[in-house]
Formats: sequence, structure tokens, C-alpha cells
Amino acid sequence: MQSNVLPKHIAIIMDGNGRWAKKRHLPRLAGHNAGAQAVQRTLQAAQTLGIPFITLYAFSTENWSRPKEEIEGLMALLSQALDKYTNTAMKENIRLWVSGSRDKLSPTVLEKIDKAVKLTSKNTGLTVNLALNYGARQEITAAVNKLLAQNKKEITVEDISACLYQPALPDPELIIRTSGEERLSNFLLWQSAYSEFYFTPVLWPDFNAEELQKALDEYARRTRRFGGL
Ligand code: FPP
Repeated sequence: MQSNVLPKHIAIIMDGNGRWAKKRHLPRLAGHNAGAQAVQRTLQAAQTLGIPFITLYAFSTENWSRPKEEIEGLMALLSQALDKYTNTAMKENIRLWVSGSRDKLSPTVLEKIDKAVKLTSKNTGLTVNLALNYGARQEITAAVNKLLAQNKKEITVEDISACLYQPALPDPELIIRTSGEERLSNFLLWQSAYSEFYFTPVLWPDFNAEELQKALDEYARRTRRFGGL
């Protein structure tokens, strides 16, 4: 039996921005803006707690089916965040990683991401892994295709793990989804084999250090057995 203190890797499905905005009779983008502030608060809290890795589901492969203005607004928000926080990341020793496909992302967004990833690559504090244009089935399929290109006749679990978007990222011990929805939505299907799930009705823009602490308290109460006794 393994005792739980703090997870090394927390992954978050940041859901409910649209509903948060709707409740206030605001456009959906106002919800995403407020969501970006919740990202900032949550990262600060994770850093203070000494959590080494956090993955944020920022944009899924399925999100391309949203209205064009919403997609553009989300991409603009991401670009602004990269402009605004890359310096902060350097000051705070934060490292940025990205998981996802580069397909369909604009050259401007890709350039900003590459720059921030490169600049922060030697930082040793919190690693923020942004799941961007991310789909878990696509990730696993891409891994298998990489292995096929190596002419492998038989593949192992370790081979697939080594070909995921971020092979050095430990599996998340805790996955949080906000807004009351209780599903994985094509997020980290491979890596979540032994994850604990924490669902909260809190909408993502209302998430904060206190809500993160509640998730961590619940996580600490659970016993993880990895299929053993
Ligand atoms: C889900 O809410 C949220 C998203 C699809 C995008 C997440 C983006 C952010 C939190 C803001 C920007 C992030 C960064 C890293 C700068 P929803 O729109 O599906 O909400 P709904 O289900 O209530 O409609």
C-alpha cells in the first residue's frame, strides 16, 4: 500500500467557462478570460505547495468544432498569456512543456510556444504542461505510428510510453475536472491508468487555491493499491 502525501503530477480539465459567463449574461470569451485568471491562481498555488508537474487541458482536438470567433478568441488569449507570462515564468523558475499536435495551430502561436518552451527549458521549478490541440487517441496513434516507422515487429507498454508527446512526464496521480461533468473527454487516456479522479461542481473561473486544497485533501484520503492488495 502506498501512502499519499502530495501528487507529483496533477492534470486538470478546466471546464465551465461558458456556463460561468452565461450565468452573468456575458459572452463566452469573458468566461475564458476569467478562466485564464483561474489558471494563474492555480499555478501560483501549485508552486507554493511544491507540486512538480501540472497539466492543463487548454484546447482539445475536438475544440476546433467551436464557432470561429471562440477559437480565435481562445488562441488570442493563449498568445497574450505567452507574451505576458514568459518573463514571469523565468523569474519564478517555471518550465513550460506542451502536449498536442502542431497541426492547424497558427505559425504565430507555434512560434510563441517554441520560444517560451526553449527559454524556460532549464528551469527547475514547477513544470506546466499545456495540453494544446491535444487528443489522447491521437497521441497514442501517433506513438504507434512512430514505432511502426522504426519497423518494430512487436511493441511493449514501455515503447508506447516512450513515444508519447512528453515521455519524461510522470503519469498524473490526480486528475481534476471542474463544472460537474464526470468524464475524461479524450484526455490522457494512456497516462490515467492508475489516476485518482476528483470531480467538483465549481466552474473553472471560480477555481482557486482553496478548491485545489480540497482536491488534494480528498486525494490524500484515498488509498492507492495499483491493482494489488
Ligand atoms: C472549457 O470551458 C474550457 C476550454 C475549452 C478552454 C480552457 C481555456 C482557458 C481556461 C483559458 C485560457 C487558458 C490559458 C492556458 C491561457 P467551456 O467553454 O467548455 O465551458 P462550458 O462547458 O461551460 O461551455
